[in-house]
Amino acid sequence: MNPVVTLARELVVGRSVTAWHGYVSRDPFARLQLAEGRRDPYAIYTEVRRRGELVPSPRTGFQTASHRVCREVLRDRRFSVNADGAINRGDGQMSLLELDPPDHTRIRRLAAPAFTPRALAGSRARMEAVVDGLLDPLPREGSFDLVSGLASPLPIAVITDLLGVPAANSEAFARYGATIGSALAGPQSVAHVVRLIEADRQLRRVLSEVFEHRRREPGDDLVSRLLASEGDQLEPAELAPLCMLLLLAGFETTVNLIGNTVLALLERPDQWQAVVADPSVAAAAVEETLRWDAPVQRTFRAPTVDLELAGVEVPRGSMVMLFLAGANRDPAAFPDPDRFDLTRTGGAEHLGFSAGIHYCLGAPLARLEATVAVERLVQRFPLLQRTGRLRRRSGTVIRGPQELVVGQPIRALAA
Ligand code: HEM
Repeated sequence: MNPVVTLARELVVGRSVTAWHGYVSRDPFARLQLAEGRRDPYAIYTEVRRRGELVPSPRTGFQTASHRVCREVLRDRRFSVNADGAINRGDGQMSLLELDPPDHTRIRRLAAPAFTPRALAGSRARMEAVVDGLLDPLPREGSFDLVSGLASPLPIAVITDLLGVPAANSEAFARYGATIGSALAGPQSVAHVVRLIEADRQLRRVLSEVFEHRRREPGDDLVSRLLASEGDQLEPAELAPLCMLLLLAGFETTVNLIGNTVLALLERPDQWQAVVADPSVAAAAVEETLRWDAPVQRTFRAPTVDLELAGVEVPRGSMVMLFLAGANRDPAAFPDPDRFDLTRTGGAEHLGFSAGIHYCLGAPLARLEATVAVERLVQRFPLLQRTGRLRRRSGTVIRGPQELVVGQPIRALAA
């Protein structure tokens, strides 16, 4: 059969099955993918916890929103990201995120030095300059879209800089990267799949041009350093997937961390004011957002052996869906978990960046970018308010605004 017809049929069947499990059998995982889950996934996570620490799911195997169980699974080496190929993320080769040790350990060790807080200490001034450059043209009076004006271009500028992508290629990178990033929510239509395949092909072409360039003219960037390890610690075939992962992991997540932080603050004028009064509180706002409205809502693992988890028999290879954002609202781990609180202290460590060996490699970079963005924003736009529409992304793995219209009303400025 024509592959596009097969694909179309799979998409339709997949959607019908999700709709059936969501509307008829009320499976929480299926409901998360429907309008209900986009609107308020947190009510669904609460329901999952009410049903138990580990709950069966007809579509995935098991699901959990318990902080204790999520953390245990992420740190248990009997769980794999790709047990017997049982997991198919459907988004192409994703390097580290789809690798178990020892390959994971080897490749992570090569990329890790570029992302330590120490290595990034020198990047703050450059990030501030990028943020200022983005804020400069935004209107001091009247409205603008925070996502396209600030949240989206910042991570692109930062990661292309860190990788050493020449400015001439960075626009193409951003365009193709955004298309591929949209696959995290699962292909939406046959046309979407066709666009994904094309973007993937183009991105690989642009990347190979960057590799060629850096082979001729090595610089003080990550691609040049990775190229120096090629053949020795890194297989040539592993280089492109690693760079693709760094690019996509950095794009599609940080934009939502910035969007979710600003949204949470603007919805609580007293907390916005607290950051305006003391911009150093921006770091606390970013951290609380990672807990309270995490950009990456879920991940999954599969055990490589039959085992018992939270008193339930889990057969080898069955998929365990981990609601990270749900775990972050678990009252057993955080007092008054549904409250967004800049002064929160104590409680467990949030799972906004996951845990265990796949703990987000870019966490220090993401924290710094979002903190600098919020710090500068409150300094330059202290009277910011929501003035227009909030449009959320259609996917439910990554959560955040796709459009967030804000501005400083002229009346407020005159007062
Ligand atoms: C707000 C921003 C970010 C969030 C919320 C986030 C979240 C996450 C999460 C939840 C995981 C683990 C997924 C799992 O356990 O299955 C992860 C892994 C990863 N992230 Fe991030 N991330 C962010 C930004 C970044 C940035 C800026 C980069 C790099 C440029 C990055 C690079 C990675 C990489 C390479 C991995 C895979 C690590 C491994 O498998 O060892 N992330 N991220």
